[in-house]
Amino acid sequence: MALPYRKPQEGRDYWIKDDFLPNATEVFERCVAREDWTYGFPHRPEFWPGMRAPNGLLPEELDRVECWVKEKTGAKKIWQEQTPEGAMLNHNWIQLVGEKESGPRPHTDSRKLCRYAGVIYLSPKAPARTGTSFYRLRLGNGALGGNFVPPPHANIPEALGVAKMPLEAWSEDLRVDNVFNRLIVYRADLVHSATSYCGIEHRDKRMTVVFFWMA
Ligand SMILES: [Fe+2]
Repeated sequence: MALPYRKPQEGRDYWIKDDFLPNATEVFERCVAREDWTYGFPHRPEFWPGMRAPNGLLPEELDRVECWVKEKTGAKKIWQEQTPEGAMLNHNWIQLVGEKESGPRPHTDSRKLCRYAGVIYLSPKAPARTGTSFYRLRLGNGALGGNFVPPPHANIPEALGVAKMPLEAWSEDLRVDNVFNRLIVYRADLVHSATSYCGIEHRDKRMTVVFFWMA
């Protein structure tokens, strides 16, 4: 089947707030000093890149994010979902990914596990080109195709019936710059990815805290 297309619109499909955390520099310093990282690709055979650690924001910092998400999306209640097998997304984890660890990997987040995803960019000096991009499918005839996973499918492999799509199958449709302390929240069924990564030393890598909510 083909994916449907819906032009991503701010205020309907995604929401952005700059200067989000009042203590973003403190959060960055606290996180970059952590020593309890779990390693992903290319250090271990994981789908996700770089390294990550749980409990990125403290409860009162997370409250601020969740109040804003409810206000903007209109959701009365947001929560973390689990599959019957116990699978969950890594909500409120810090991710630190360097330029040599990965490139863009367009995907959607499972519709079984979340409706909205969010990211706060926490690297003080990350280049603008290391934000978040949204993509649409390239069709065989050169035309552009869809950009989101419709029900009843949970993800792109289910919707398209293929295990993996090459990067060339996607065309960038919209790019949101990496700006220190910017929060972006988006419909998780839209095809999206980190635009690129940066840095070699921990302090220069692309640091984000990521969120996933069912609503
Ligand atoms: Fe994602």
